[in-house]
Amino acid sequence: MTETAEFSSFWSWWVIAITLGSIFGCVWLLWVTRKSQKFDSETEETMGHSFDGIEEYDNPLPQWWMWMFLATIVFGLVYLALYPGLGNFKGLLTLEVDGKTVPWTQENQWAVEVAEDEKLYAPLYAELAAIPVEELITNDRAMKMGQRLFANNCQVCHGAAGRGSLGFPNLTDNDWLYGGTPEKIKETLHQGRIAAMPAWEAILGSQGIVEVAHYVRQMSGQETVDAELAAAGAPKFAANCAACHGADGTGMQLLGAPNLTDSIWLYGGTQNMVEMTLRNGRAGVMPAFQEKLGDDRIHIVAAYVYSLSRNN
Ligand code: HEC
Ligand code: HEC
Repeated sequence: MTETAEFSSFWSWWVIAITLGSIFGCVWLLWVTRKSQKFDSETEETMGHSFDGIEEYDNPLPQWWMWMFLATIVFGLVYLALYPGLGNFKGLLTLEVDGKTVPWTQENQWAVEVAEDEKLYAPLYAELAAIPVEELITNDRAMKMGQRLFANNCQVCHGAAGRGSLGFPNLTDNDWLYGGTPEKIKETLHQGRIAAMPAWEAILGSQGIVEVAHYVRQMSGQETVDAELAAAGAPKFAANCAACHGADGTGMQLLGAPNLTDSIWLYGGTQNMVEMTLRNGRAGVMPAFQEKLGDDRIHIVAAYVYSLSRNN
């Protein structure tokens, strides 16, 4: 249940007075114009003014129009009575949320529907969550559910097919920042991940950055490397980078430090992009899903991700 913001009581009455005042003002206007005219009495009389020869008959409002207007007024009053919106008045409709009777609001209605869905699907999720990931990936129904969970929660960053994009890792290859076992994938989802790649401009200087970038590209097997610059970069790498990326540059999953010796790049492997990574540092953030999805759904979507990496 959520609390909605309230007006101070002066402004609440202000809104109520203006709203009801205008509605009853309309009723009054309808009433007096009705009284002053004979219904069903079309005349040839005009209002007496003429604009470029255009004149106006002095006829009463059509009946059907009157009744429509009255109907909208009645609808409006019923609506204002049932639903919140009239100043601080909460409306007469109520809902049951967590065993408590609360006024109708969009948020409360949403909470009711979520709770109903939860009751419906929780046993199903629980049943699937009891099956180990390795087995779950052969279960079509679970994979369909996993795919839907992925589409709703992960696709915005990792792409519809899970192939990622600049800064968002591809989940379908077998190259893992943090590890691709079911346990590691679940850990990533439960707690989220924050990568910390420091910025090196201040320590290495611009020339140092260029040299180390050449060395990094050499490690990954690129041919367009200047061997001299790379050689100058090697000791700088050993001194500054090996602690996280490993002496051989193959990375460290405990820290999410990527393998730099393959040709898979999270941020791009051109000289420019590697230099940019080194100059400014990087801090990729994978949000935690524990609260949003809960254990059972995480198990299912983790199985789906696990299956993606194995199908490719
Ligand atoms: C807001 C964007 C965002 C969303 C939403 C998101 N992720 Fe991520 N995810 C990332 C980023 C960024 C990383 C890489 C973090 C880093 O740079 O270390 C990542 C990393 C991962 C990893 C680790 C990959 C590896 O190589 O170890 C997995 C697994 C993963 N995400 C799965 C998911 C799943 C499943 C969902 C949906 C439930 C999801 N992500 C939703 C941004 C997102
Ligand atoms: C404190 C640990 C740490 C140190 C020290 C460190 N890195 Fe990193 N590095 C990381 C992490 C973590 C990432 C992943 C960043 C992300 O996912 O946002 C990363 C990412 C990178 C990338 C991007 C790889 C890609 O796939 O796009 C490059 C290149 C890189 N580091 C090179 C270096 C070099 C060169 C040094 C030394 C000058 C260095 N790193 C020092 C932790 C470290």
